[in-house]
Amino acid sequence: MKIVVITGANTGIGFATAQAFIQDGQHVILACRNPQKAEHARIELEKLGTGKVEVIALDLNSLQNIQDTANSLLQKYEKIDVLVNNAGIMTPNLERTEDGFEKQIGVNYLGHFLWTLKLLPAVQKSEAGRIINLASMMHLMGSIQLDQFCADDVHKYNGVIRYGNSKLANLLFSHALAEKLKGTSTTSNALHPGGVDSEIYRELPKYQYKVIKLFLIPPSKPAELIKKIALDPAWAKRNGEYVSLQTPAIQSTKAKNKKLAHELYDATYAMLKDYL
Ligand SMILES: NC(=O)c1ccc[n+]([C@@H]2O[C@H](COP(=O)([O-])OP(=O)(O)OC[C@H]3O[C@@H](n4cnc5c(N)ncnc54)[C@H](OP(=O)(O)O)[C@@H]3O)[C@@H](O)[C@H]2O)c1
Repeated sequence: MKIVVITGANTGIGFATAQAFIQDGQHVILACRNPQKAEHARIELEKLGTGKVEVIALDLNSLQNIQDTANSLLQKYEKIDVLVNNAGIMTPNLERTEDGFEKQIGVNYLGHFLWTLKLLPAVQKSEAGRIINLASMMHLMGSIQLDQFCADDVHKYNGVIRYGNSKLANLLFSHALAEKLKGTSTTSNALHPGGVDSEIYRELPKYQYKVIKLFLIPPSKPAELIKKIALDPAWAKRNGEYVSLQTPAIQSTKAKNKKLAHELYDATYAMLKDYL
């Protein structure tokens, strides 16, 4: 039984991914910010099959919470086989994390960076550790603006562009980590899950959602792809890739820039070092 940790697993792509792993008989840990929603998801998942379901409280909005939760997970499990870095937000207005970062870069990117590096020693104990990062084709609109990671430094806020920035950062992190893991049995890959019918569009005006919905696919589709990346032997040697459902896996010039990926990695490491 593989141990699979999924962030934001109470709904959307995360929940469908948990379903796929549970139906496959794996041990899934739902790392969720809302205990009631997580408990509801756990009950639903337990009805499904032979796998084991567990809930752990994780709020990616707080570096201290991420550190504490990762530490308690490490105390309980020496080895983790699969990390699915799935949780994500899309917010139209400027908000900040508990630590004062612009919220989309804070939750989507910085939180997952810390979470992954904290848990990496356990993933490296797996004979085939898999780190799977939910990026997005929206990274094509993104750029890296280190000086605007803190909410106080952000001027003229555009929520969509900021979401794109956070997804570009997810992709660059996946690539930088893959480089560092080269030659080991652990891999880091990223995907665009397609336009997926989930709660991520909850803050869109209703008329916009109605139009977008026509093009959305069910969360079960990316869930199957994530399971494949995690468990299919064909993925054993695939590292540092970006795959896409629904659209060609086109990466921006910035996403392919290895120097940028390493600079971002090093700058983020320095930013978060007190929690690592
Ligand atoms: N849907 C799409 O079309 C699409 C396209 C490209 C990429 N993606 C990416 O796919 C991933 C999953 O998205 P989705 O569509 O499934 O979205 P979703 O239905 O909105 O689910 C997002 C999940 O993230 C959780 N989350 C939000 N803030 C969190 C925090 N501070 N700490 C811990 N968990 C938190 C949510 O918890 P709550 O339920 O408590 O809010 C929820 O479980 C995201 O990374 C997204 O960027 C989605």
